[in-house]
Amino acid sequence: MENLQIAIEKARASREEHTTQSLATSPLSVEHSWHSFPELAIDPAMLIAKRITTQKSNAQSSHYDMLRTRIRDQAKKNDWRRIAIVSAGPQVGKTTTLANLAFSFARLPYYKTMVFDFDLRRPSLQHLIGHNPSTQIDDVVAGKTPIEAHCRRIGDNLAFSLNAQHVANSAELLQSDGMSDFLSGVQETYDPELMLFDTPPLLAADDTRGFLSNVDAALLIVEAERTPIDQIDVVEQQLSELTNVLGVVLNKCNYPDPTSSANYAYY
Ligand SMILES: Nc1ncnc2c1ncn2[C@@H]1O[C@H](COP(=O)(O)OP(=O)(O)OP(=O)(O)O)[C@@H](O)[C@H]1O
Ligand SMILES: [Mg+2]
Repeated sequence: MENLQIAIEKARASREEHTTQSLATSPLSVEHSWHSFPELAIDPAMLIAKRITTQKSNAQSSHYDMLRTRIRDQAKKNDWRRIAIVSAGPQVGKTTTLANLAFSFARLPYYKTMVFDFDLRRPSLQHLIGHNPSTQIDDVVAGKTPIEAHCRRIGDNLAFSLNAQHVANSAELLQSDGMSDFLSGVQETYDPELMLFDTPPLLAADDTRGFLSNVDAALLIVEAERTPIDQIDVVEQQLSELTNVLGVVLNKCNYPDPTSSANYAYY
């Protein structure tokens, strides 16, 4: 907590001076900070039941693994570290995609990923992970709860910030200077290669729109045969005015079974 508070102070000072200089952290202190997060035991069968199929490399993980590698390449090329998972409307599969990507990234050695459930209107990631958090991100950002008491680690490379309850003033929190300083502090203390953010639907509230200035890029999720093409165009255009558009994921597609040799050529 002390480290994070120092980092937040530095970030605030840095913001006030309008500098973009990065704040160096030693690898040893990063490892020490990561291991201050309690480790979470997860039930692989429960993950599969919730459509999280990427804990191990197999046929079910391959699409997410391909997406992971494309994200990693783009992020490296552009020096992007913060990516928001967004959609126009609800229920297209943002949280499911985010969780699958998180476990897929966790299989990359020496690649640390932190995941934040910033759908503060209807937090749901905790249900997919199977952890009932007793702390809330708004209290962490406000300095009332230590981040070590809030985040949970899975293995050495993956950490989650989860919430059980909605946050009343979510839009204001997400676009506050406190949030911006908090994220800079997290970046300095834990030095993750990637921070992934779940968000509420863009058309539902101004939470996501207000938060996007804090990220380097957004990944737009659309639902096959349900998200109208003109809506995709409008949202992509709006997104591009707010941040970099990393790409568009067409979710819930029906396609021939790639494990069947009869379909192999087509696949
Ligand atoms: N690729 C997929 N194939 C089939 N069902 C899926 C897929 N991805 C997600 N789903 C299902 O779609 C539903 C909505 O998924 P999810 O909660 O991930 O969407 P969301 O965009 O995060 O929703 P919200 O906008 O409410 O936060 C869930 O029942 C989930 O299991
Ligand atoms: Mg969701």
